[in-house]
Amino acid sequence: SRTVRRNADGVVTVGGLDVRALAEEFGTPAYFLDEDDFRARCRAWKDAFGPEADVFYAGKAFLSRAIVRWLNEEGLNLDVCSGGELATALAAGMPADRIALHGNNKSTEEITRAVEAGVGRIVLDSFQEIVRVAHIAEQLGKRQRVQIRVTVGVEAHTHEFIATAHEDQKFGIALAGGQAAEAVRRALKLDGLELIGIHSHIGSQIFDMAGFEVSARRVVQLLTEVRDEHGIELPEIDLGGGLGIAYTSEDDPREPHEIAKALSEIVTKECRAAGLGVPRLSVEPGRAIVGPTAFTLYEVGTVKELEGLRTYVSVDGGMSDNIRTALYDAEYSVALVSRTSDAEPMLSRVVGKHCESGDIVVRDAFLPSDVAPGDLLAVPATGAYCRSMASNYNHALRPPVVAVTNGEARVIVRRETEEDLLRLDVG
Ligand code: LLP
Repeated sequence: SRTVRRNADGVVTVGGLDVRALAEEFGTPAYFLDEDDFRARCRAWKDAFGPEADVFYAGKAFLSRAIVRWLNEEGLNLDVCSGGELATALAAGMPADRIALHGNNKSTEEITRAVEAGVGRIVLDSFQEIVRVAHIAEQLGKRQRVQIRVTVGVEAHTHEFIATAHEDQKFGIALAGGQAAEAVRRALKLDGLELIGIHSHIGSQIFDMAGFEVSARRVVQLLTEVRDEHGIELPEIDLGGGLGIAYTSEDDPREPHEIAKALSEIVTKECRAAGLGVPRLSVEPGRAIVGPTAFTLYEVGTVKELEGLRTYVSVDGGMSDNIRTALYDAEYSVALVSRTSDAEPMLSRVVGKHCESGDIVVRDAFLPSDVAPGDLLAVPATGAYCRSMASNYNHALRPPVVAVTNGEARVIVRRETEEDLLRLDVG
């Protein structure tokens, strides 16, 4: 993140604070999140899209009450995908009309809570859900604003588990075969629903704009069909999230203003060509906002050198605080941050303390050959999908999230304790 530097002794400082002092005060492993960077990224997205569009931060990347307050203050909206995320958003004061509810199998309780709270939109993901949401809204005497999520048939170039626009998958309703057009037909007939637009999310950690452009074009095509069939112009389009970030120096991410320009140009051009008014655009970045703003700080516990092969450097966390390497073959970088070293670089594998060999944090990295127990290592770009996907595997205690701003650090999510674990174990 932007405020990470090395001081004259080679010790890394975050917003002016020495990582050794941070480790001392907050323990390791811990996530340190740069609040100013987070807010700056929110503003960059909001400014890039301007007043004619809405930016919904995707809470699944990482959500806490402090995050909700910052989003609120920076004028962003919030995409939640579960009752838990909705509860956090409401508890921290996000106005309900700035919340969107997602999910491919929302429960009756989740839908009811969202409709009662008055969320700005529910994104309908299936034929059953069209009826379900309409029914719940009618029972509550409400008309719920909804979008329909479609799969546009784009193959996004990303890991299979996080690509979502091809048709053979659980999310959304296919444009192909007239499925989405049929969904629109049904939604328009139901009194409990106000259909405000079409939603498409093509995947995550994407660098190539081409997939977004195809997606935009196909969504506008559907709006055109809807106009021709029903004589109405749906007023909104949401093109989802998915913008990639730099995990290593090989990655070359697009900036929010490039994305905003490309998306609004294509939507405007296609709508003009079809004689449609330009709908209000929204996007749902998660990773691109929070990912780069945090790093994980670990302490080295053991070092095992395999002559001519590699060195295993074990840290005090692992797959319980960052599952992404094991799950998606994700790549991360790592740095020795508690001192400098002139020792030769050695091929290292940074591994965790869990009981399986796949417990890898950084698969291949060069660390100084004198790395030793007690050294502190930092893994950057862990703000997205690390704390939010953290687990208690091996009864690990999930690490805290510490926000740093103006030379001050404060816990926004505290470290779990053994009492927290035992509290759930009522047997
Ligand atoms: N909107 C929808 C409907 C989504 O499903 C997602 C992510 C987003 C927005 C935000 O995408 P982002 O801008 O963060 O890429 N756990 C995986 C990522 C799963 C993403 C799921 N949906 C990972 O760690 O890479």
